[in-house]
Amino acid sequence: MKAKTKPVQSVSRRGFIKALRWAATVTGLSAIMYPLIAYFYPKDLPETPAGPVKAGPLAELPVGASKTVSYGRYPALVIHTPEGLRAYSAACTHFACLVRWNPDARRIECPCHDGIFDAKDGSVLAGPPPRPLDSIPVYVDREGQITIGKVGK
Ligand code: FES
Repeated sequence: MKAKTKPVQSVSRRGFIKALRWAATVTGLSAIMYPLIAYFYPKDLPETPAGPVKAGPLAELPVGASKTVSYGRYPALVIHTPEGLRAYSAACTHFACLVRWNPDARRIECPCHDGIFDAKDGSVLAGPPPRPLDSIPVYVDREGQITIGKVGK
């Protein structure tokens, strides 16, 4: 008698990566996991988008707040500082962990090796990062939308 076999369920590469990203986000390990996933399973995305990217209405980003926006291969960190809007690649210049805004200390911090960056210009204040965060042009368009990235060609 022939044994019944269960059909093998295949998981696509894209589905596997999606599941890893979901798990990293849910567990709060995205700062560490995302660069690893991006390194081993790079998305089919350019390093930076060719054109500007909308980052939401200025009215929803009060002074002192920040948001993370999809921006090519790595996300961008948009911060509304008292000096104005700033946008940087969220990839730390040390080992590409994702940095985040600390509104209480008013600085950008990397959770992996305690790199600290100045929100005004992205310069390194402390830790091992070898250079400032990559700055991204940021402006508010006529509709009040924060927009990041290069305008035109
Ligand atoms: Fe950011 Fe090392 S990866 S300090």
